[in-house]
Amino acid sequence: MLNPTERHVPVLLKEAIEFLNVSSDGTYVDCTLGLAGHAEGIARLLGPKGHLVGFDRDPEALALAKARLDRVYEELGSQAPKVTLIGEAFSTIARHLEPASVNGLLADFGVSSLQFDEAYRGFSFQADGPLDMRMDTRSGPDAAQVVNEVSERELANLIYEYGEERRSRRIARAIVRGRPVTSTGQLARIVAQAAPAMKQDRIHPATRTFQALRIYVNSELDEIKALLEAAPKLLKPSARLAVISFHSLEDRIAKDSLREGARQGIWEILTRKPVTAGEEEMDRNPRSRSAKLRAAERTAAR
Ligand SMILES: C[S@@+](CC[C@H](N)C(=O)[O-])C[C@H]1O[C@@H](n2cnc3c(N)ncnc32)[C@H](O)[C@@H]1O
Repeated sequence: MLNPTERHVPVLLKEAIEFLNVSSDGTYVDCTLGLAGHAEGIARLLGPKGHLVGFDRDPEALALAKARLDRVYEELGSQAPKVTLIGEAFSTIARHLEPASVNGLLADFGVSSLQFDEAYRGFSFQADGPLDMRMDTRSGPDAAQVVNEVSERELANLIYEYGEERRSRRIARAIVRGRPVTSTGQLARIVAQAAPAMKQDRIHPATRTFQALRIYVNSELDEIKALLEAAPKLLKPSARLAVISFHSLEDRIAKDSLREGARQGIWEILTRKPVTAGEEEMDRNPRSRSAKLRAAERTAAR
């Protein structure tokens, strides 16, 4: 059987790394290590004076990323860069890095294939598992607590806001009636009965509700806002930022934040339109279909 790091295919790998413009003695931060596909790509471009810093708040992902990067480290021997791995949310980045010390920063938002594919993590309705959905399994309420404990109104609002689900009220009512809801399979059935797929729908009727719960449980949008706010202070002049998002809520935050930064003279935007995967990558890796890469360069001015 393949180990998860071999099964995982990093999205827009070549494009993201090209935007980072890696110099062998620089400091580069991968804010979302996951299975370290992008991180390995960066590590291989660094020399012994280079430094790779990686974040992941999922202890399981961090351990797998470490194992992969340890193998690269051994292979590169005396030419290997320094590697520092941090098992915390990337919103804490400013606590770990000095101002104006970073040459490039990458973030590939969302869940990894490891998290999504393992039923016990509770992210997917494709396989039945406990309703968990936490990236950081050490803390915080899980999806079961949210689904069973928040008011119907709050549930409807979060499904609407984070899932962009028009039938959120109907879904929230059905969930509250179906309590206790403890598994992904049970939740998917409740949602599909309350708001069945319509003819034109190409996605499973529970997709948006699952997305909303995941974003809420992991405070994903606040995390992205915090990172994009911290990034300009951490980057050196002419240093690069590359962010990959997978749905419109993430991409809107990235787009708006970079545009506002450009208006203030903090960023020079390198991607007038977001970069998307080519046909060949989409065929190879269906997850890349919704990926959007935006990149910017820190100006020297402010
Ligand atoms: C899409 S995967 C990254 C895949 C990675 N680029 C690769 O090549 O394997 C996203 C990873 O970021 C982590 N993550 C998401 N949000 C995070 C946050 N706010 N702080 C730290 N890690 C986060 C997730 O746990 C997940 O492992």
